[in-house]
Amino acid sequence: MEKRRIQIFDTSLRDGEQVPGCKLNAKEKVKIAKKLEELGVDVIEAGFPISSPGDYESVQEISKNISHTTVCALSRAMEKDIKIAGESLKYAKYPRIHTGIGTSNVHIRYKFNSTLDKIIDQSMEAVKYAKKFVEDVEFYAEDAGRTDNQFLSKICENVIKCGATVINIPDTTGCCLPEEYGKKIQFLMENVKGIHKVVISTHCHDDLGLSTANSLYGIINGAQQVECTINGIGERAGNTSLEEIVMIIKQNPHLNFFTNIKTQCFADISRLVSKYTGMKIPANKAIVGINAFSHSSGIHQDGVIKKKETYESINPKDVGVNDSSIILTARSGRAALKYRYQQIGYFLKKNSLDLVYSIFLKYADRKKEITDKDLETILEKANLIKNHSSRLSSDISRHVI
Ligand code: KIV
Ligand code: ZN
Repeated sequence: MEKRRIQIFDTSLRDGEQVPGCKLNAKEKVKIAKKLEELGVDVIEAGFPISSPGDYESVQEISKNISHTTVCALSRAMEKDIKIAGESLKYAKYPRIHTGIGTSNVHIRYKFNSTLDKIIDQSMEAVKYAKKFVEDVEFYAEDAGRTDNQFLSKICENVIKCGATVINIPDTTGCCLPEEYGKKIQFLMENVKGIHKVVISTHCHDDLGLSTANSLYGIINGAQQVECTINGIGERAGNTSLEEIVMIIKQNPHLNFFTNIKTQCFADISRLVSKYTGMKIPANKAIVGINAFSHSSGIHQDGVIKKKETYESINPKDVGVNDSSIILTARSGRAALKYRYQQIGYFLKKNSLDLVYSIFLKYADRKKEITDKDLETILEKANLIKNHSSRLSSDISRHVI
């Protein structure tokens, strides 16, 4: 069976930047956008131009600086928003307007005080108006996760008639279960007239920690685009993490999907986004967390030293990490200690290792992590070397002791 390409729509600069305290200026946004282009994303959602002059400027600058990736601007289903979005994209080689409206009962009743019919009309008008500015118009049915499937089908059918090229089915509140979200996509694929003319997109939030699983079920059931962010940043608990969904696709060839993403860029772009947004990457974050390729318990370290695959299912080099690391803590065993000594140039015989290990454990009980400098201090304490400060740690000539 031929592999199906999944398009990656990055919204770090729009949904990601909505996070409190995350504000990015135009220069920072352009730098990140260029990196996203190098990474190989298909679409960069650059901002929400009507929201502020700064965001308008960011979308405009990104449009000028991006050459082969689609640049997208968000708008509500309102003429003034769409017009501003269209103007901000004037310099984009491949512009896209992303317009839409809340479609769930709770949005229609309480947010808009509207009716189902009026929401359909407003959606159609918005898409038709956006088509005056750009050919590529994506429609979002906000809170589609809680929208009745029959109504969702009707709205999709109507916006397709008006020329929508992409339809986004957001699980805005992150409440769907993977199977439920997958069935929603399947229902649309089977019931919406004209659906095969458009790209169906997922946009899943992480309120229950299910955003990546939901996106996966979305593509398994027919969606062709995933909306996601670097490091999973985004409103509240965040969005689907780009690096997670892409690595799931890469690590599971039997799914028969592929993306155009250069996964070796993950470590760099993850750090860049974290630095500019000020959003720290949790140490245990999949793929890009500092602990994602660190081994600290004795049993795991022993396995990894013998054969990496015992405790590593992903090759760190595939995501831009040079190598996995063996962290020395009080839970480490002799194999890890010996290995770390070898890395700094000391080859310990059995008796030396036994002696050093008992001193190491006392140190490790006091300290969270043992550094290379600590390792040399331990050798001094064991009278195996003299005055390690005279020896540079970078001097890794061979010392058998
Ligand atoms: O979560 C959401 O529904 C959104 C839309 C504006 C696409 O971010
Ligand atoms: Zn969102």
